[in-house]
Amino acid sequence: MKKYILSLDQGTTSSRAVLFDRNGAKVFSAQYEFPQIFPKAGWVEHDPKDILDSQLRAVNDCIAYLTANGEDISEIAAIGVTNQRETTMIWDKNTGEPVYNAIVWQCRRTAGTCSRFAGQGLEKFFRSKTGLLIDPYFSATKIKWIFDNVDGVREKAQRGELLFGTVDTWLIWNLTGRKVHATDYTNASRTMLFNIHTLQWDKEILGLLGIPENILPDVRDSSGDFGITDKSLIGAEIPICGCAGDQQAALFGQCCFLKGDVKNTYGTGGFLLMNTGDECVESANGLLTTIAWGMGGKVTYALEGSVFVSGAVIKWLRDELCMISTAEETAAIAESVPDNGGVYFVPAFVGLGTPYWDSDARGVICGLTRGSGRAHIVRAALEAIAYQTADVIKAMEEDTSALGLIKVDGGASQNDFLMQFQADILGRSMIRPRNIESTAAGAAFLAGLHCGMWQTREDLNRISQKFREFIPAMTDDKRKELIGGWKKAVGRSVMK
Ligand code: G3P
Repeated sequence: MKKYILSLDQGTTSSRAVLFDRNGAKVFSAQYEFPQIFPKAGWVEHDPKDILDSQLRAVNDCIAYLTANGEDISEIAAIGVTNQRETTMIWDKNTGEPVYNAIVWQCRRTAGTCSRFAGQGLEKFFRSKTGLLIDPYFSATKIKWIFDNVDGVREKAQRGELLFGTVDTWLIWNLTGRKVHATDYTNASRTMLFNIHTLQWDKEILGLLGIPENILPDVRDSSGDFGITDKSLIGAEIPICGCAGDQQAALFGQCCFLKGDVKNTYGTGGFLLMNTGDECVESANGLLTTIAWGMGGKVTYALEGSVFVSGAVIKWLRDELCMISTAEETAAIAESVPDNGGVYFVPAFVGLGTPYWDSDARGVICGLTRGSGRAHIVRAALEAIAYQTADVIKAMEEDTSALGLIKVDGGASQNDFLMQFQADILGRSMIRPRNIESTAAGAAFLAGLHCGMWQTREDLNRISQKFREFIPAMTDDKRKELIGGWKKAVGRSVMK
């Protein structure tokens, strides 16, 4: 019986590889950052080769760890891939050369195209097919941009010489020695080209954008067959048995298997996903509808909400205001005052996401008095992370009236003050697992289920059991008063 699953977690700023054992415990991990390219204001690119190289370095470190410990690479039963979503690449299938840099999910260069589509009244058209709002965030208009702006791309695509992929597809194509051009349902559902009802690339959308279907990858189950690695790249032939976008992988890694279960990742931004089972819920509250995973030829759906600035507000206090020296000290600083002293901080640095979707909103700190101090501002910043999360969870509850367990992960989930305040402001318990590496774990679980390391979801629940629970301790009146203050502050962030 083989011992390990290797997870490849290709994120926006770094590539990680994590080795998990049969108990779902992390045995070893390696991580490499790679350059971010900002050619113009609002534009973000990555060099696809940096993505691949940094990922391979991390994988090779894991293999070197095994070898150094007298074990063999053949102990790895399977690989799972998880990735930053939406980021778009087109490359030459004969040479492997990208025709342009990867256009990153954060890149706003196609804002004009998106407004034009919205102006033509196409919101409902896209929404009903893809579950998404028309936004530069998703891959579709990024592909169109490459076709419209890079010489020769359209002709080459017509000749069948080009391939499109999100990061998962790029990695899998390279890892399999250019044999497998595939993605999974979760990644496909973030392109704004995929019909989440028929589970096919949508011909009408492709026609509207002028994107030829022959460049698109085959869409497969998230727990399934994605080929075998090329021996010359990592020294062994290992089956790739799992693939999912990173937020969906985290939902699976948190064992949010039941309808209503929610995971919230407190990263630079906040990503909340709710499992809605086989129901494809169209939100009336600004949430996106997306695919949570595909297994056994069947998909599970999710609702997704985003908080643009979550942990990043702490970084801002540290790097721009020099108000704190480490993120860790914020919990103690916040607790050094009995309450927020009436101070609210809306970190709308880049507008506000779910449920407001106001890209013109800007940050405000309000309610200051002569008695306000550093601790109040730090506390207000942490509380803002919780209020924004609560706004998204409220939207989920209104859309489904079926809120289940709430599970947290990501860097800021380590802040006990924030977690307690979050539970208080939600009026609901929250679970923090011991292993907050949910994303990498999710990819490992998807791969491990397919290759037989684990048989059922109950096996995964069993190995993921250890957690800390945060139980609400605030009175209803206090909660209402604080949320009322937050809503007023949000009103002051409106700039239009
Ligand atoms: O949708 C974008 C998301 O997948 C990026 O995640 O963790 O790489 O910033 P992360």
